[in-house]
Amino acid sequence: MRYDVPDRVRENAATPIRDLDRYRETHAAAANDPNGFWLGVTKERIAWREEPTLGLEGDFHGIAEGPLSWFGDGRLNVTESCLDRHLEARGDKVAILWEGDEPGEVRKLTYRELHAEVCKAANALAALGLKKGERAIIYMGMVPEAAIAMLACARLGAVHSVVFGGFSADALRDRVRDCGAEIVITQDLGVRGGKHIPLKATVDEALAGSPSVKKVLVYKRTEEEVPWDASRDVWWHEALGAAEPTHEAEIVEAEHPLFVLYTSGSTGRPKGVVHTSGGYITYTSYTHATVFDLREDDVYACVADVGWITGHSYIVYGPLANGATTLMFESIPTYPDAGRYWDMVQRHGVTIFYTAPTAIRALAAKGDEHVTKHDRSTLRVLGTVGEPINPEAWVWYFDVVGEKRCTIVDTWWQTETGGIAISPIAPATPTKPGSATLPMPGILTSLRTKEGAVIRGPGQGLLCIDHPWPGQARTVWGDHERFVATYFGHVPGAYFTGDGCRRDEDGYHWITGRVDDVLNVSGHRMGTAEFEAAIVSVEEVAEAAVVGYPHEVKGQGVYAYVVPQGGATVDPASLNGACRTQIGAHAKIDRVQVVPGLPKTRSGKVMRRILRKIAEGRGDELGDTSTLADPSVVDAIRDGFVTKD
Ligand code: WTA
Repeated sequence: MRYDVPDRVRENAATPIRDLDRYRETHAAAANDPNGFWLGVTKERIAWREEPTLGLEGDFHGIAEGPLSWFGDGRLNVTESCLDRHLEARGDKVAILWEGDEPGEVRKLTYRELHAEVCKAANALAALGLKKGERAIIYMGMVPEAAIAMLACARLGAVHSVVFGGFSADALRDRVRDCGAEIVITQDLGVRGGKHIPLKATVDEALAGSPSVKKVLVYKRTEEEVPWDASRDVWWHEALGAAEPTHEAEIVEAEHPLFVLYTSGSTGRPKGVVHTSGGYITYTSYTHATVFDLREDDVYACVADVGWITGHSYIVYGPLANGATTLMFESIPTYPDAGRYWDMVQRHGVTIFYTAPTAIRALAAKGDEHVTKHDRSTLRVLGTVGEPINPEAWVWYFDVVGEKRCTIVDTWWQTETGGIAISPIAPATPTKPGSATLPMPGILTSLRTKEGAVIRGPGQGLLCIDHPWPGQARTVWGDHERFVATYFGHVPGAYFTGDGCRRDEDGYHWITGRVDDVLNVSGHRMGTAEFEAAIVSVEEVAEAAVVGYPHEVKGQGVYAYVVPQGGATVDPASLNGACRTQIGAHAKIDRVQVVPGLPKTRSGKVMRRILRKIAEGRGDELGDTSTLADPSVVDAIRDGFVTKD
């Protein structure tokens, strides 16, 4: 099934890519001359203090020798693109439109006001000792101050690392230590769905034993009292109250790090993905304007959290670089009822709305009346991100939410890609439910066999990207070798995404999901290794293996196979307790099966393929199990298969 772009999306397009022919021309031009293409884009879109003359330096083959560079001789501060240059033409335009936890609890910050707040915060952070190149952890809820804190760090040339407010004290401590943060910026309490989240108390717990952190800057969101250490803690309103509303931006090299964002991989601890300044801001600005076909009067709403890459690229940096009105949403889609998103769309006149498949599925299950009772006539573009969207959910989004008048952009990308890499371009690309369609200009995808051979034409394989692009991650914080091994160790000379993909006869991409041990639960990316480490820390557990299985709402559910210590009984609640403490509240095991042993090869490697099949309910399709050290455990595991959450 193919959907043409609806007329009102096609007409009056702002992007020059207005149809498929223009898309093909642009993609070919960028492929033939990547440097010419991206230098053109960056000079047009970004406020450089010193314009770059260099494009890409380095390539994927030489990545082991050191990070790539884009625009190496350019100098800038990304906040000048996001704030200063808008003051004249758009000073009174709303930059951040904040909707708090309660419906109608609204704050609006114009570009002029946001600029002043960011300057004050930069002055306050500088007074607390934060310097260029040093790291600041941001552990906050969805308040404008989270975006202000990010931009204030960038203003100083300091490196921010936002940690999602659902992470536990242990997980926060690991991140503080890994990046050697000087400062933590937090708030008293998070407010979400009528509940309070103890952000400051969690910071206190995380910082016990983290000597690198000298100061904690605390935004006051509520009237509640929180524990206080006067030698370390500083109130946001006091520090900013004393600060000047102007601040000369620190001008940095294009490749100066902008932020570190921790993300889960298939092995080991989360890694700090590093994004740099010039390339990242160029790529997020370009993709935000192009994919959504941003227009000057759009009201743009991305309901992700700033703790994830989507919040960085498409709530803060991309939209602000483009002078857009960007909505920040503090609450959850079902508070106070399942109509909350559409109530907001109506009240704020939202034109572009960007969410995740898990939310779409959850809301579709609540019934259409929650949607249809609100006026959605302003909507033009509907976006989705985070996991493959099943065609049923896509069609519901298109028919019910968009009333067949809006186009859907199914945007495929990753923390590591920095911005959208495969997606329809709103006015140009006919859509197919479940397909992320075509690569962005400058993105050269390839499908590969396990051995790395390129698959031509229609087919299915491992999704790789063959040429560097400005928005891509440069390295893993403090561990370039791990970066090289993770992304370039599979296919020499190509970036391996970790995803599988099918390409059809039109060249459209259909992402089949991760082929590694990364789980995607309700759009939260988590490693099976992280779950396993938490589970085996429980005394009664000898061994554990965690796999994903298809889940109707969450996309993937978490299935744990647990081998008890001889004779011990395992309490599933204790396993979830360990995951909550070591990872966070969003890390929940759905199904636990106690097993006598794990299926292992004679060399002791767990055969996860077998465990995945059983968890998916396909225990009768195991294939050859003769290489197992003890094939009889498979029967025992298959017989005890758990089908209820
Ligand atoms: C998955 C989120 C299918 C994919 C921006 C990827 C998707 C991982 C899509 C990255 C999509 C993201 N269709 N799968 N439109 N978007 N994914 O780093 O498996 O949190 O590798 O970045 O999400 O998750 P991350």
